[in-house]
Amino acid sequence: MEYKKMSHFPTDFLWGASSAAYQIEGAYREDGKGLSVWDKFVRIPGKTFKGTNGDVAVDHYHRFKEDVALMKEQGLKAYRFSIAWTRIFPEGKGQVNQKGINFYNRLIDELIANRIEPVVTLYHWDLPQALQDEYGGWESREIVTDFTNYAKTCFDAFGDRVNYWVSLNEQNVFISHGYQMESHPPAVNDEKRMYAANHIANLANASAIKTFHDGHYQGGIGPSFAYSPGYAVNGDPKNQVAATNYEDYAAHFWMDVYVYGRYPKMIYKWLTERGTAPVITEADRALLIAGKPDFMGLNYYQTQTIAANPLVGGVGLAAENNTGKKGTSSESGVPGMFKTTNNEFLKQTDWDWNIDPEGLRIALRRIDSRYDLPVLITENGLGAYDKLEEDHQIHDDYRIYFINEHIKAIKEAISDGVKVIGYTTWSFTDLLSWSNGYQKRYGFVYIDRDEESAKELKRYRKDSFYWYQKVIQENGQYL
Ligand code: BG6
Repeated sequence: MEYKKMSHFPTDFLWGASSAAYQIEGAYREDGKGLSVWDKFVRIPGKTFKGTNGDVAVDHYHRFKEDVALMKEQGLKAYRFSIAWTRIFPEGKGQVNQKGINFYNRLIDELIANRIEPVVTLYHWDLPQALQDEYGGWESREIVTDFTNYAKTCFDAFGDRVNYWVSLNEQNVFISHGYQMESHPPAVNDEKRMYAANHIANLANASAIKTFHDGHYQGGIGPSFAYSPGYAVNGDPKNQVAATNYEDYAAHFWMDVYVYGRYPKMIYKWLTERGTAPVITEADRALLIAGKPDFMGLNYYQTQTIAANPLVGGVGLAAENNTGKKGTSSESGVPGMFKTTNNEFLKQTDWDWNIDPEGLRIALRRIDSRYDLPVLITENGLGAYDKLEEDHQIHDDYRIYFINEHIKAIKEAISDGVKVIGYTTWSFTDLLSWSNGYQKRYGFVYIDRDEESAKELKRYRKDSFYWYQKVIQENGQYL
């Protein structure tokens, strides 16, 4: 049912791909880099798939020129990567490590020389271990000063060449996984501590954004939020209420704070009654309002289908499928509020993520309606098993289909009137999945390594590499 004329992608649309420092760089102790919480966490037995770590990862630190050459060949207009805080400040604060600055200068210059727009994430989860040890990382308000100082150091060093900054990557994920699900550092399960740490992360985010605006740097800045829109499973008003609860709990609880500087009333009241609401001062409120982003970064992978969940005997939070064995995850929820359930219209990936391109259009529409900000899609992609054939080809037609359908959904949203700045898929090369090792692959470029061995880390272009090259050449005209 279409009611409108289809628009074209804007001519300056940022067709791109993404990565994150810990997942690609390797060189974890080189050139003065300090240790991050992930460098330590991966060494705790049983925490990652087959004990994988990012010590070498895909060795991007030494091979970035080869990787940028591949980006250039593919025709990328933008590349999103993150800066490792521990390369700039090995101890999280104090003395700047010039060698860290030099590395990112070389990378940014290489991108620009190849006419690729750098999209720079300041924080993609690799918190300096020194700050975790000194004051508990995100649990102390001291981090607001240290993160802001780190961010300002990056703005000053790279801001003459960078137009798009991402402040925090998926705050909702690193906070919930770190302080509730125990699957990310610091592997705590404590609701009160979680909401306190989350509030402090909000302050750090707002402070970095405010500093960026006060400093009149070029370009814009925003957080990247992992938004999985919720649908009620059917028209039963009880399920509709549950879906409304879910949106407040899982989405507005972050995005409203970013844009309006306030928490959704219903969730804040619920937390207050549970005794787990964060302490908010008047100064906090002022800072949150002052740190409004220029765009919303959207990481979109899937939707959730929502049903009512009884307070007594209801389903609690379930662990994620980190095995790659389809059908091994179960319903997850908050008793009395909502639970996720199966959607008969959707298929799943091998890791049980719902495949739902239309959901991306819905995500874009909802963000546009509620926040009225341009959206930069900073992640979207398919984690799948890929097979390297003997002739070194990789026939990932499933990924081509997945991305093609999502690009069509973006085109629909643009035609609906949403301002979408760009689309940086997850990911450019294959990389280390935090909890799933190297078997769950996302890239356009295959990296020949596995959990057991880094082998020679050779790069091979997948079929999707050539397909996306053509999409970019045609500016998404023929999908
Ligand atoms: C996002 C993260 O949550 O999802 C990425 O920003 C991550 O860093 C990606 O790799 C995919 O997750 P996973 O668990 O499939 O590797």
